[in-house]
Amino acid sequence: MSAPLKTVCVTGCLGFMGSHFTRAALKKGWRVWGIDQKTYAAREEWLNEFKRHPAFEFQQADIAELDHLYDVDCVVNFAAETHVDNSIVDSTRFLRSNIIGVKNLLELIRAKRHYEMPLLVQLSTDEVYGDISKGVHKADDALRPSNPYSASKASADMLIMAWHRTHGVPYVIARPTNNYGIGQYPEKLIPKAVKYLALGKPIPLHGDGSFVRNWLHVSDTASALFAIIEKGSANRVYNISGNHEATNREVVKAVLKHYFGRAVDMKRYVKTEFVRQGEDVRYSIDDRPLRDLGWANQKSFEREIGPIVRHYKNKVVW
Ligand SMILES: NC(=O)c1ccc[n+]([C@@H]2O[C@H](COP(=O)([O-])OP(=O)(O)OC[C@H]3O[C@@H](n4cnc5c(N)ncnc54)[C@H](O)[C@@H]3O)[C@@H](O)[C@H]2O)c1
Repeated sequence: MSAPLKTVCVTGCLGFMGSHFTRAALKKGWRVWGIDQKTYAAREEWLNEFKRHPAFEFQQADIAELDHLYDVDCVVNFAAETHVDNSIVDSTRFLRSNIIGVKNLLELIRAKRHYEMPLLVQLSTDEVYGDISKGVHKADDALRPSNPYSASKASADMLIMAWHRTHGVPYVIARPTNNYGIGQYPEKLIPKAVKYLALGKPIPLHGDGSFVRNWLHVSDTASALFAIIEKGSANRVYNISGNHEATNREVVKAVLKHYFGRAVDMKRYVKTEFVRQGEDVRYSIDDRPLRDLGWANQKSFEREIGPIVRHYKNKVVW
């Protein structure tokens, strides 16, 4: 994997993380063939931005139905249904995009057996391990997903490992922690909290807000993926940790502080909701193999959260 890679297929290129990766890849001088089905989570404005770039080509397609793969060096798969709450209401689309979609990508790569098969870089998640009250999960730990979303992601990881053993499809599975940054759909905690404040409604918080998540800036995820693609080994799993653990309550408190420009009484702005079914208490992963490649987080949550909150606050329509 050490040769410079120039042409990448980025699926889910109009979503939160896929768009940041696409922008960064174009900036590096890579050619990007972007694919997106344009679900509710896709942003048209990014397509308009990318289309102005001569090294970008777009195809609107469902990865579960894609029937041709151009010759690329790697397929970086961000395309997925990603919101746990939605998966609890109805998991159908999660199974289709997150499992059947990945199976289809594997088959398209396998069909290139007479040529060089592109590397499949799969965006998995720390949630596939299930929760851990103390300590950290390592990349070869057992997968114990707790909800339909994480089960669909774990299933995809299993398929990828099997397609490698059986058909020789080369892969890397990346398991990042909770991403934050600009451009996230407002169903996710940080933009959702700002949205509720902007609409003058109390922010819904699951339980007492004591669930712990590990926060990773979206641009650090992109740089980690570049490190993995350029310097890592194929056919293994890399964890990507944000190194910033915080309870949901602490995150909402930070949002409130930056929204109002001062500390406020949290009780006035928060509404406690039932703990959702399958809620994980804490996620934590060990990403030493990635850091051994020379990668480290560049962004600090404390520094980034203010500008991010102010960005979302300036949105007009939610
Ligand atoms: N956001 C996080 O905190 C986080 C953390 C760890 C892992 N991940 C994983 O990273 C990936 C990207 O997450 P995100 O937050 O950017 O997601 P997102 O929901 O913001 O975007 C998903 C994108 O994929 C597209 N898409 C969905 N189904 C598709 C299909 N069948 N065919 C083609 N396109 C399809 C959507 O239109 C959208 O543009 C996902 O695989 C997710 O599981 C996310």
